Amino acid sequence: MAVLISPSVLSCDFANIQRDVEMINASSADWFHIDVMDGVFVPNISFGFPVISAIKKHATKPLDVHIMIANPDLYIEDFKNAGTDILTVHYEACTHLHRTIQAIKAAGMKAGVALNPHTPVDLLQDVIADLDLVLIMSVNPGFGGQKFIKNAILKVEQAKNLIHRYGSRALVEVDGGVNMETGKELVEAGADVLVAGSFVFNSSNPNQTIAELKSL
Ligand code: DX5
Ligand code: ZN
Repeated sequence: MAVLISPSVLSCDFANIQRDVEMINASSADWFHIDVMDGVFVPNISFGFPVISAIKKHATKPLDVHIMIANPDLYIEDFKNAGTDILTVHYEACTHLHRTIQAIKAAGMKAGVALNPHTPVDLLQDVIADLDLVLIMSVNPGFGGQKFIKNAILKVEQAKNLIHRYGSRALVEVDGGVNMETGKELVEAGADVLVAGSFVFNSSNPNQTIAELKSL
């Protein structure tokens, strides 16, 4: 299967969101990656429900929503109502992760869990069978445009092994510092989905950059 591409709208032009959403619609991208940051779980604040709803009105592809927030359980229904298709919470933000995953699925969304660079993949072994997505962070979450942490490549292999061992259907997505070089190594390691923010939106032709990533 060709790798799926999920451009991160964190790096789009917020004064022209509709234009950038239409660009992604017309491109070979598969999903919209949407980063929600609360200034508590991560040292940055991005945007919330009104912006997700506005994107949903124009998007023709699934919304892959990555929430970097404390107390995610409080907002699961709100994310569903805003148009989320895949909701990814952080392992480090969930005391009762099993309950959170069940609540996401009960609300009618696909469930993902993100792992910070310091969090071992094996910690997911008791929930992996229930997951639709494992998100390996290849930067410390909070900002676009950071340097790729190479250990993420090993973690992709570990996640794929865990998924096979437990008969899970989860996809492995990688987020942070993805470009043609790191993307190639990640695809070779077995990554199913690549998130790319600054590499896409800082390029002179984002549509073509997405196509190049898609061809990895
Ligand atoms: C970082 C976010 C990423 C970010 C990636 O906390 O989760 O999705 O937008 O940006 P790049 O691709 O520029 O590293
Ligand atoms: Zn993200």
